[in-house]
Amino acid sequence: MGQQKGFVEEMRRVAMSLHTREQAPREGEKKTDATKSEQKPVARWTPTAEGYLNFLVESLAVYEAMERVVAANENEKTYGKFNNCGLERSEALRKDIKYMEERFGLAPREATGAGKEYAETLKALAATSPPEFICHFYNVYFAHSAGGRMIGRKVSELILDGKELEFYEWRANGGLDESLARVRNLLNETAEAWSREEKDRCLEETGKSFQLSGQLLRLIA
Ligand code: HEM
Repeated sequence: MGQQKGFVEEMRRVAMSLHTREQAPREGEKKTDATKSEQKPVARWTPTAEGYLNFLVESLAVYEAMERVVAANENEKTYGKFNNCGLERSEALRKDIKYMEERFGLAPREATGAGKEYAETLKALAATSPPEFICHFYNVYFAHSAGGRMIGRKVSELILDGKELEFYEWRANGGLDESLARVRNLLNETAEAWSREEKDRCLEETGKSFQLSGQLLRLIA
């Protein structure tokens, strides 16, 4: 996991407490019953190509929204420093979506559900509440690097004959571990300028992030 200090450690603690025992057994303090399909053990998921493509398309809307906010703020203090951080996923997702359409003969589609809703939430928060936007930024990218990767491996085994999608490959800026370390530092730096009230607002947004990401995961589970 690397070094865990500063505000990122606070965000991580809250996130881990919201996992069901089935999702992250070692640390997760079970707060919810695993009644929703994405809260069940990944080993019991029954993914389909169609559902997985929908998940990738909806996810693209979320990552595009996030990455546009950061790129548009290239010269601005709050988000600009996260531009080209190495964790970006839009380009990889575009390739995977094309691959899934071709491999399974599935029609192209637009994000109309959970991802569209999440993207709209992100755009609004970016303008009105940086601490809340940053909470989503942390949870979306870090969740994908942890549980997201486990999910990718399982789905690949079940429906892609072991093929690894680009979504789960980090090649930019030194790869995944370096990028996670860089972004942890940037997040800690960002939060150092916040008041305790702003930090708490950020932490309190974690539940919303789980709810919105959970809706996305449900498309594959
Ligand atoms: C970390 C699983 C959903 C946010 C983890 C870890 C696992 C995991 C195994 C690593 C625990 C460790 O470090 O020991 C899962 C599974 C999920 C899921 C199976 C769903 C099926 C989510 C969701 C979010 C989330 C919906 C938030 C939107 C995080 C964060 C970390 C994490 C922030 C910490 C990553 C880090 O420190 O690098 N998850 N998770 N997870 N998860 Fe999840």
